[in-house]
Amino acid sequence: MLPEYYDFQVRSRIVAGPGTASSFGNELERFKAERAFIVTDEVVRGLGFLDRIEESLTAAGLETAGVFDEVPPNSEFGVVMRGAEACREAGGDLLVAVGGGSVLDTAKGMNIVLSLGGEIADYQGFGLINEPLGPLVAVPTTAGTGSEVTGYSVIRDEATESKQTLVSPYLASDLAVLDPELTLSMPPGLTASTGLDALSHAVEAYLSTNWRPVSDALALHASRLIAEWLPRAVESGDDIEARYWMLTAACEAGMAFSSAMVGCVHAMAHAVGGLYEVPHGLANAILLAPGMEYNLPVAEGRLADLARAFGLEPTGDASRDARAAVDFVRGFVARVGLPTRLREAGVPEEGLERIAEAACVDAAVYTNPREATPEELLEVLKKAY
Ligand SMILES: [Fe+2]
Repeated sequence: MLPEYYDFQVRSRIVAGPGTASSFGNELERFKAERAFIVTDEVVRGLGFLDRIEESLTAAGLETAGVFDEVPPNSEFGVVMRGAEACREAGGDLLVAVGGGSVLDTAKGMNIVLSLGGEIADYQGFGLINEPLGPLVAVPTTAGTGSEVTGYSVIRDEATESKQTLVSPYLASDLAVLDPELTLSMPPGLTASTGLDALSHAVEAYLSTNWRPVSDALALHASRLIAEWLPRAVESGDDIEARYWMLTAACEAGMAFSSAMVGCVHAMAHAVGGLYEVPHGLANAILLAPGMEYNLPVAEGRLADLARAFGLEPTGDASRDARAAVDFVRGFVARVGLPTRLREAGVPEEGLERIAEAACVDAAVYTNPREATPEELLEVLKKAY
């Protein structure tokens, strides 16, 4: 079956390689900026990575106007507003985000408020950000979200205890700096959970009703890389080759789902994160195999393709191969040391119904290949509990 029509876009220029964080100064001239404002968190700041970034800024003749390091692991609207105010006061004219998904998404939110004014809560939903924003450089320190290249920012609205998705192609960074050295110090648990977020992007983009040939290519390649390299990145954190391929895979999966979008796994993960503040990667890790299993009746062929991408031998029977892809992911999550049950992530059993209801109104669920009802997702959640 061919898609009737498709579009595909990547706005971000990508520069990649070990050591790139301290040597991307020559990439900054085109922004005609003078005062960089750095967005990060305390952990990243403590690791000394900002020194490398400042080397690049200095080489480009930029001053550092200020640093906002107050981004929490699950960022919120209030944090975005505080960060934007800090940047405004400091007179920053180029945002440089250095961190994981929460930091990158916060900087994207700040960029909206700084460029267009108003409150971040005003920009929830589709079609509200239709013009270029100020320049944004994204330097990921985890290999998971791919947020450096996506047109999404997912931020918790503390007023409604829900994760809100801001959407616009203009949200993607202008420059993504992929330096695997910055991911070397991630502990095994964070390496595994962020890696499973990337795998969820690849798998869900591939199964999405909004699939397109270009995102398929990226999603399958990312799936292959993650199956091959994530266990090694978890076991030997200082393996630069494993870190390099994981950072590449996360970025590829990000490009894939930025156009193809995701599905019920992310819809449920957003609900779990919004209501119980379970880290996004962990929620996806637990829900990926159950979500794939739910989609089995409508996505055998595509799940069988994924089995091949995971390195499994085709049996000639698509439904057996599809089932093998689900089993592979379930085993893979355990193999990289992550919990496979929602109860282990601190989710109360009586919360499952609310999660199912929230998931069914999450933007991610609309491109799931099997149309989901709250009752059906509740069954999936119970199985994952
Ligand atoms: Fe995600």
